Amino acid sequence: MNDILQIKHLSKTYGGTGGAAATHALDDVSFAVRCGEFVSVMGPSGSGKTTLLNILAGLDTPTHGEILLDGQSYAGLDGEQLAAFRRSQLGFIFQDYNLLDTLTLGENVALPLLLDKRDPALRVQQTLALLGIETLADRFPYQASGGQQQRAAVARAIVHDPSLVLADEPTGNLDSASAKLLLQQFAVLNQQMRVTILMVTHDPQAASYADRVIFIKDGQLSTMLERGLQPSRAFFTSILDTLSTLEEG
Ligand SMILES: Nc1ncnc2c1ncn2[C@@H]1O[C@H](COP(=O)(O)OP(=O)(O)O)[C@@H](O)[C@H]1O
Ligand SMILES: [Mg+2]
Repeated sequence: MNDILQIKHLSKTYGGTGGAAATHALDDVSFAVRCGEFVSVMGPSGSGKTTLLNILAGLDTPTHGEILLDGQSYAGLDGEQLAAFRRSQLGFIFQDYNLLDTLTLGENVALPLLLDKRDPALRVQQTLALLGIETLADRFPYQASGGQQQRAAVARAIVHDPSLVLADEPTGNLDSASAKLLLQQFAVLNQQMRVTILMVTHDPQAASYADRVIFIKDGQLSTMLERGLQPSRAFFTSILDTLSTLEEG
């Protein structure tokens, strides 16, 4: 299988000028994500997870290293090209949904298509239906539950058929039933729609839905776990075991 994403020796240092101590948020991180894969990134608070996603999203720039998406280097794109590339190739899901309050859920989902100058009509309806929220298209975010808003945010992230979906703690603000529903939908998107997903989480239950879990600590890649043929339960137990080993070490 092809690598959709290649991260090579990525480092990000904040501060360190004017006598202030530097923070090495990311320190020589390298890994690849295969086309169609569902990968979780786990790590304690402050380990660099959001920094990693922000750089992948093109919202922040690395201090060192290179990112290739579908073989194309971010570094070769100017600001405008990067924005266009991001609009067509990437989808984002944030912990706090980030829906626009003044637009309905349907209008929020249509936004990436409008920005990319594509006709939203049919595609929005299909995507809302895929997430089971087609009856909520005309509601505003405040008229929907947290779980429904997050499903709309997922619809918005995939409506333009991106190469890669990046999710930062997508279940972080959901109750456990809504979180489970969302993760089951991620699994369907991944397995049936072949959406490639890179999801940051600190929840081992959420991580156990992925094919592979990458652990980072203090900005460095510490270890990786493959699901292989294990049932979810066994994979979940291996994730817990790895987490406790990493905390001890
Ligand atoms: N904009 C920033 N300026 C300075 N330090 C930052 C900034 N963003 C993150 N950091 C620092 O980088 C480290 C990693 O942060 P972050 O990527 O948010 O971790 P995580 O998402 O794993 O909790 C932390 O020590 C954090 O304080
Ligand atoms: Mg974070």
